[in-house]
Amino acid sequence: MYVLGIETSCDETAVAIYHAAKGLISHTLYSQIPTHNEYGGVVPELASRDHVRKLIPLIRQILQDSRLAPSDIDGIAYTAGPGLMGSLLVGAATARSLAWSWDAPAIAVHHMEGHLLAPMLETDPPEFPFVALLISGGHTLLIEVSGIGCYKLLGESLDDAAGEAFDKTAKLLGLDYPGGPALSKLATQGKPRFQFPRPMTDRPGLDFSFSGLKTFTLNTFQNSNQSQEDKADIAFAFQQAIAETLTIKCKRALQQTGLKTLIVAGGVSANQEIRRQLALLGSKEGARLYFPRPEFCTDNGAMIAYAGCQRLQAGQTQNLEIFARPRWPMNELLSL
Ligand code: KG4
Ligand code: ZN
Repeated sequence: MYVLGIETSCDETAVAIYHAAKGLISHTLYSQIPTHNEYGGVVPELASRDHVRKLIPLIRQILQDSRLAPSDIDGIAYTAGPGLMGSLLVGAATARSLAWSWDAPAIAVHHMEGHLLAPMLETDPPEFPFVALLISGGHTLLIEVSGIGCYKLLGESLDDAAGEAFDKTAKLLGLDYPGGPALSKLATQGKPRFQFPRPMTDRPGLDFSFSGLKTFTLNTFQNSNQSQEDKADIAFAFQQAIAETLTIKCKRALQQTGLKTLIVAGGVSANQEIRRQLALLGSKEGARLYFPRPEFCTDNGAMIAYAGCQRLQAGQTQNLEIFARPRWPMNELLSL
């Protein structure tokens, strides 16, 4: 079974082809970073327009690269949410139209389920059950996962997501969008000087709150000379605070569930310091840790093709509706 995956939830237009037995055949992506860079963040209308321009050419290209014809495609998986409504609609309408004309089923994929399953694309994938830490631009979720679609929410961010905190803090320090990678690069030049709080770690529970860190950063920045050295030291302290907070909560989640497998995915999981601290936690707790390769941490088509393939193989499809949901709680997903 060949499945075409389409991802257009935010600022990447991404496609992939996954085969149920052969694995990932091909994936490619067009990043809209240059489009949004001058505005310092994603402009939804420009994102939608870029998806309209790029999606069909990318699909043509991936079919050609994979030496496949439309008649070889057995199913089409597309990100139906959560995300920007205009961007989602481009993917949903395209996927639905192709499914109609190619006479193949289409399946709506939850973007965060895509992230959650991304480690499955690696050789030596994790086995269920496991704890998943999903850290992206829009979500920070700790989930107990007993199978595809069997998700028990353990904790989530009560305000800013981890990626959002990175992006806002980066902007405050005058760094370019997307802020996460820029801030972590600057942090490599920083040294331990400032002590930032580890929010919500002084009380029980697995929820997160990162918006206070942003204010703490602002105050520290305004009280400094705002030199390059100050910025680097602040970036360092901020990154340490996020990494340590995530690590403390993951430790609790492992202890609370008694599970010995932790998977970490979503754009922020590309962060080297976060990966380092979590890997250390894994070895201390005797837990196995799984990350996607960095290019599958951030948005990509491969994770959508994979997730869709699992659901299509289980016989799930949807009616002909162009289905898109900007907000979509994960606990509404069907289990396999
Ligand atoms: O998963 P993703 O690509 O898109 C969403 O689903 O939101 O995540 C994007 C987020 C952005 O906030 C970006 O700044 C952050 O992931 N990010 C990083 C790094 N790479 C991407 N944050 C910290 N360090 C990184 N290396
Ligand atoms: Zn994402």
